[in-house]
Amino acid sequence: MAEQKFYQLTPQQRRAQLNFDDSAIPVTTQPTSQLIENYLGDFALPLGVVPNLIVDGRSFVVPMVTEEPSVVAAANNGAKHLNAGGGVQTNVTQRDMIGQLLFEGASAETLEAFIVSRETQLFARAKAAHPSIVARGGGLKSLRVRSVSDTQMSVDFVVNTQDAMGANIVNTIGEALTLEFEAFSEQLLGVILSNYATESLTTARVSVPFAVLGGREVAQRIAALSRFAANDVYRATTENKGVFNGLAAVVLATGNDWRAVEAAGHAYAARDGQYRALTRWWVADDQLQGELTLPLALGTVGGSISALPQAKASLALLGEPDAPTLRSVVAAIGLAQNLAALKAIANGGIQRGHMRMQYRALALQIGATSTEVDAVVAQLQTHPVVNEAVAREILAEIRK
Ligand code: MEV
Repeated sequence: MAEQKFYQLTPQQRRAQLNFDDSAIPVTTQPTSQLIENYLGDFALPLGVVPNLIVDGRSFVVPMVTEEPSVVAAANNGAKHLNAGGGVQTNVTQRDMIGQLLFEGASAETLEAFIVSRETQLFARAKAAHPSIVARGGGLKSLRVRSVSDTQMSVDFVVNTQDAMGANIVNTIGEALTLEFEAFSEQLLGVILSNYATESLTTARVSVPFAVLGGREVAQRIAALSRFAANDVYRATTENKGVFNGLAAVVLATGNDWRAVEAAGHAYAARDGQYRALTRWWVADDQLQGELTLPLALGTVGGSISALPQAKASLALLGEPDAPTLRSVVAAIGLAQNLAALKAIANGGIQRGHMRMQYRALALQIGATSTEVDAVVAQLQTHPVVNEAVAREILAEIRK
């Protein structure tokens, strides 16, 4: 019998060959074992929730998958502030994806004339390639020529993908469209969707009363930090990373493509040539006003979402949202995450907040009850040296 290739082995056989530590990641028979090549097991990450985030007047339980300890705590903190301001209002554009037919050596005029002359055939090709998306009210919407350089042209075709993530739909339709462009076979370099989902923008807005933040001064400092990140690429990168701490955790929890969301977000942050913060905070009407706009190509059906039981469980927590609702919630969590970070920075730095969490963990570890934890943490914060012995002394003193 011919020797089996590595990809043909069972996960157990692959593990044996690699001396893989079964105790770290047990073998499972999850459907995920069919999802990728050379599968060994499921790599688990912590799933936490924000139990109440008000978006467009509705309360959502928001699942977040992350390995970074402070992210869910910060999101909850931010959500509390946003909720106190009446919650987040969102605006979601159509769920349209862009695909690209990439040409070199064909002029814009020739391509434009060709598209006009073949419009009926192009739409027929697209429909035949994916009739089910057309039946659901989606499919090819338009084609337009965009000049990239003197010699390079992109025929951007826009596809409505309804509640699906859409990458496969766009690529299937794109590859069918190329059949119509036979006359350009020399100039056509290739076809692929674009992750720069500018036809899928989502905006989240909020007004937060000063009192919720601890006063006007804090709000003004947050606004000043925001102005800084609008102009400085170093600060903008970090701030956007913080926004994606929240966004990507929900995107991942719901089985969506977080690399696509991040790539599009960063490109959008640099849309005018300078990389800037995606969020903006300013003071008006005696409130802190905040806004976040970014491309969010998210789906709630199909592809890996349907193949991942974890994603289905997350969508159930969210109340089985459609794609536009998921986009609203994801944008809102980005705003919450960002506000929590900026507030912590405005109040002296994020380490302080982290220390509070570590002190809470220490208090619980030495047996403080839920009614004692806050008092132990408060006293630990005033101590020059903190360790288990000090925490035990404080607890004993409180209990006297
Ligand atoms: C940490 O993961 C994220 C922050 O650095 C974001 C920010 O600085 O705005 C706190």
